[in-house]
Amino acid sequence: MLPRLLPRLLRRSRRLRSLSGKHVLVTGAASGIGRATAVLAAEQGAVVHLTDLGADRLDEVAAEIRAAGGRVGHVEAVDVSDHEAVRRLARRLTDAHGSMDVVMNIAGISRWGTVRSLEHEDWRRLVEVNLMGPIHVIEELVPPMIDAGRGGHLVNVSSAAGIIGMPWHAAYSASKFGIRGVSEVLRFDLRRHGIGVSLVCPGAVDTPLTETIHIAGVDKASPTFRKLQARFRHGAATPEEAAEAILEGVRRNRYWVYTSRDIQLVHLLQRYLPPVYSVLMRTMSWGANKALPAVEQARRPERAA
Ligand SMILES: NC(=O)c1ccc[n+]([C@@H]2O[C@H](COP(=O)([O-])OP(=O)(O)OC[C@H]3O[C@@H](n4cnc5c(N)ncnc54)[C@H](O)[C@@H]3O)[C@@H](O)[C@H]2O)c1
Repeated sequence: MLPRLLPRLLRRSRRLRSLSGKHVLVTGAASGIGRATAVLAAEQGAVVHLTDLGADRLDEVAAEIRAAGGRVGHVEAVDVSDHEAVRRLARRLTDAHGSMDVVMNIAGISRWGTVRSLEHEDWRRLVEVNLMGPIHVIEELVPPMIDAGRGGHLVNVSSAAGIIGMPWHAAYSASKFGIRGVSEVLRFDLRRHGIGVSLVCPGAVDTPLTETIHIAGVDKASPTFRKLQARFRHGAATPEEAAEAILEGVRRNRYWVYTSRDIQLVHLLQRYLPPVYSVLMRTMSWGANKALPAVEQARRPERAA
């Protein structure tokens, strides 16, 4: 039994060596990492299908890709947290273009705070967008890939906050560890169908998310926040570098995809030197509270009175 089974277990799974002519769906394609990944995938010959919240911003990205000679298929604004809307998008997409070769869950939002300041809506919305959103996309688009029997690849964008316990990230981490759990199972479940899975764990990436992020208790116009934001941006990867890492991860069929070395290093510390990891996280928590004391002081409205 084992001698017959062993070669199958050890066999490398199929790789997508090139994106040329492949159909690639990108969520969050209107901005940041999603936009850069869609642009790069199109440069590499993929037919890209784009979705995000806003139709205007999506149209701009589609026009930019076409102007550069890239191929854009379906473009549709959808809220990924709306299962029915994702189902309709998937039906229109597969009716017009067949099953996808690569599905990329990149759309996401970020809200940070303490358990005293995060509102119930923050916890719920993060899970709805960052976890249920990718689940809706997976539910509707991966079964047609399996049925088509051509293999392919699934990319789920988690975060450093899907690996480590960063300050004030409890609600965000709930969603990002959630998508990590989904990915951890699917990397083995989908292997038999020749579908690879990549879990992308970006550290700091300089995208418009640094503007849209909500930190409970923090005035984003304050000089302190602006100074910290500038420091974050200075050390951050560019969306284009993140896109390179993601497509390299797809080509090499890598499960863990990091967009910067610091997160890869802290992940190694967490696994192999837990006491050092623990000291590092305590230091990070202390430093964050020193830099932005308003976060610890904040209360959600009904508790403020
Ligand atoms: N920028 C970073 O430092 C960083 C770090 C770790 C993880 N990430 C993750 O990377 C992914 C991309 O983020 P980004 O930095 O490019 O941010 P971004 O804000 O530039 O892009 C995110 C896109 O997702 C879209 N989106 C948000 N909610 C949506 C919804 N309900 N339905 C459909 N689309 C929706 C937004 O409209 C936006 O265009 C996110 O999942 C984010 O959590 C980013």
